[in-house]
Amino acid sequence: MKITVVGAGAVGATCADNIARRALAEEVVLLDIKEGLSEGKALDMFQTATLLGFDTKITGSTSDYEKTKGSDVVVITSGIPRKPGMTREELIGINAGIVKGVAENILKYSPKTIFIIVSNPMDTMTYLALTSLGIPKKRIIGMGGILDSARFKTYLSMAMNCSPNDLHGMVIGGHGDTTMIPLTRLATYNGIPVSRFLSAEKLQQVAADTMVGGATLTKLIGTSAWYAPGAAVATLVESIVRDQKRIFPCSVALNGEYGQKDICLGVPVVIGRNGWEKIINLRLSDAEKASFAKSADAVRNMNDVLKTLSL
Ligand code: LAC
Repeated sequence: MKITVVGAGAVGATCADNIARRALAEEVVLLDIKEGLSEGKALDMFQTATLLGFDTKITGSTSDYEKTKGSDVVVITSGIPRKPGMTREELIGINAGIVKGVAENILKYSPKTIFIIVSNPMDTMTYLALTSLGIPKKRIIGMGGILDSARFKTYLSMAMNCSPNDLHGMVIGGHGDTTMIPLTRLATYNGIPVSRFLSAEKLQQVAADTMVGGATLTKLIGTSAWYAPGAAVATLVESIVRDQKRIFPCSVALNGEYGQKDICLGVPVVIGRNGWEKIINLRLSDAEKASFAKSADAVRNMNDVLKTLSL
């Protein structure tokens, strides 16, 4: 397996680091436009191989896409991250052109690759990849819901004073502060509904904290987060390369599912060797359905902005 990570900033580098540490591929290529950055970070990471006990080869490349040739999975993290007070949506003007250019270059050397889109606003960047690349939709996966779900389970575990590993729960909808939908009704503590352990008010607080999970970190750190995003990408990559067929909420092309069409939005999908293999249809409550429709409206408005940009 060969995996390319585009963007050697904090998120991209942490993705590469997690993928290598977990020995998910024989080779990881880290690519960036900034001279020397990816080569330096890749070499630093590769020097941890004997310390951590992996043998994934990590190399860097400054804008030389030939080095990414034959990648099985490509993770796109390029673009600018948000600063405190910014929404993910405010990044569209700069990131759309970058993501489109990167994806087209990647495709020249890896026509069969599976794309994982991380750049924000993620659902719109995933839609841009879908509509501009002309490759099968199952090979385009937006990473947001798996990260938001990890944050959801973390906040739940803090409220319940239990191990996050005993919790199951998903966040669907858009990867935005107001568009994501933490499914508190379906979350369980080893199969037992969490509503048995937390009051409605506490659950509502957990959902609210989850929705601004990324913004809270951006405010604290001064830029957007990278540890959980990097680990979330690696978990997704693992399900692809090991064909685990795990279920994660990911932003994928909807064609009538969840009442939506011509949009990429977070829904539970089975992730395996061929990308996202199928969409799991949840039986949503009326309130959840209304939230999903509202989320779709917001993401669709953002997608419309793409038409105003000269890409
Ligand atoms: C976050 C970015 C990766 O949520 O969107 O931290």
